[in-house]
Amino acid sequence: MISRNILEHAKDIVTHAIVHQKKRSPRSSIYVIDGTMGNGNDSLFLVNQLDGNGQLYALDIQKEALVATKQKLVGQGIPSGQYKLILGNHAKMNTLLPANLVGQVTAIMFNLGYLPGCDTSLKTLAGTTIPALTTSLEFLHRNGVLTVAIYTGHEGGQDEADQVLLWAKQLSYHYFVSWYQIWNRPSAPSLLTIEKRTDETTTKSLSYRSR
Ligand SMILES: C[S@@+](CC[C@H](N)C(=O)[O-])C[C@H]1O[C@@H](n2cnc3c(N)ncnc32)[C@H](O)[C@@H]1O
Repeated sequence: MISRNILEHAKDIVTHAIVHQKKRSPRSSIYVIDGTMGNGNDSLFLVNQLDGNGQLYALDIQKEALVATKQKLVGQGIPSGQYKLILGNHAKMNTLLPANLVGQVTAIMFNLGYLPGCDTSLKTLAGTTIPALTTSLEFLHRNGVLTVAIYTGHEGGQDEADQVLLWAKQLSYHYFVSWYQIWNRPSAPSLLTIEKRTDETTTKSLSYRSR
C-alpha cells in the first residue's frame, strides 16, 4: 500500500522535524521525548534518529514498560548514555524532566491507550493526558513537533479522543495543528500532530516548576 498508516505518518513527521533541526543547528544536541514508553517501539525509533548526538527521555507508569524498553534498547546496542527511562506519570513531566529541557525538545511522541497484553486498566486518560500534552508544548522549541496516536476502540477511548481533540482545536495560532484520520474507517486509530510555530509561549515559561 502506498498510503501511510498513522504510526508511519507520525514517524515521518518526527523525522522531518529532526532533519530540519539538524540543518538549522548542526552542532547542537537533539532532545526527544516518548510520553508513553510501552514496549519501547517509539523510544527505539526516536533514539535512532539522534545519530548519537542527543538524548531520549521516555516515561511510563508501568515498571514492565521500563523493563521491556531497556531490553529493546540494550538489544539494539544503544549506549545507555543516550536515554533516560523514567517511571512516572506523564502528567507530572514538568517535575520529572530536567528544567533546562523547556523550549529545547525537537519531537515528542504519545501513543495513547493501554499496553497490549498487559493490564488494560493502566490506560491513558484525558485527565492526565491533557496536562501532559499541555506541558509537552512548553518543552518544544520552534518547529518542534508533538504527535499523538489516538485509539477509540477500548472503554473510555472515545471520551479521551473527544477531549484531546477539543483541547487541540482550541490551541492558539502559535501552533499548527492537524488531525489525520482514515476517513472511511471511523473506528481506526487517528493521529494528531502539533508543530510549534513560535517561541512566544516558551519564553513566558508558563507553568514549569523545578524539582
Ligand atoms: C499504547 S501503549 C504505548 C506503546 C508504546 N509507545 C510502544 O511503542 O510500545 C500506552 C502506554 O501508556 C502508558 N501510560 C498510561 N497512562 C500513563 C501515564 N499517566 N503516564 C505515563 N504513561 C502512561 C501505559 O502504561 C502504556 O504502556
